[in-house]
Amino acid sequence: LARGTADADLAGRHVVISAGGTREPLDPVRFLGNRSSGKQGYALARTAVARGARVTLVAANTALPDPAGADVVRVGTAVQLREAVLKAAADADAVVMAAAVADFRPAEYAAGKIKKQEGRDPAPVALVRNPDVLAEVSADRAREGQVVVGFAAETDDVLAHGRAKLRRKGCDLLVVNEVGEDKTFGSEENEAVILASDGAELPVPYGPKETLADVVWDQVAARLA
Ligand code: CTP
Ligand code: CA
Repeated sequence: LARGTADADLAGRHVVISAGGTREPLDPVRFLGNRSSGKQGYALARTAVARGARVTLVAANTALPDPAGADVVRVGTAVQLREAVLKAAADADAVVMAAAVADFRPAEYAAGKIKKQEGRDPAPVALVRNPDVLAEVSADRAREGQVVVGFAAETDDVLAHGRAKLRRKGCDLLVVNEVGEDKTFGSEENEAVILASDGAELPVPYGPKETLADVVWDQVAARLA
């Protein structure tokens, strides 16, 4: 696929990328987490640096080395991720939410390790909703013309879910991919359709996450121009 026309087409731009998966603690040793590796978000950070952008990477629990040339802010929970993204978004030209943000967190955090009780089943874990960072960033654009991009992994009628989610979130672009078996999680490759708020739908064939990242930046750069 064609890489952007100009190599430094994001020069002078500040882009914020979230990556990885949040962890929502139950007690000092346990958390609710997800299978996001962070690889797609890191590929977005590397390619944005290569295209001349100033990059803030908000990284949630990834095992990946910091990409050269990016400012990396490490976070744990969805609430921490929200804070870091909103702060960095204040002067950003684009915000790309590639992180897998937990929808719920335990309603209570046990300061001491939760212990088994002899002869008793465990109490159910009560959950509360986390803030929706993508919806919030989309609704309250910190800057005029700021481009906001979300990611969605779906099953079943992937495009229908994606179109509805794009509208619900209010973002400009939603990168939708199908999950199942061992597709996507932890892999080096990805296949997606980029849905735009103007109704455009751009399929991106199966290939390296770097290639998908470059297509996303092509779309972002076109909207910033
Ligand atoms: N997202 C977010 N904050 C949340 C949940 C999700 O910012 N609390 C962002 C993700 O980073 C991603 C996009 O929203 O860019 C879509 O995430 P997804 O989990 O697919 O959306 P949900 O609205 O949580 O829908 P679902 O019920 O299908 O999980
Ligand atoms: Ca979700």
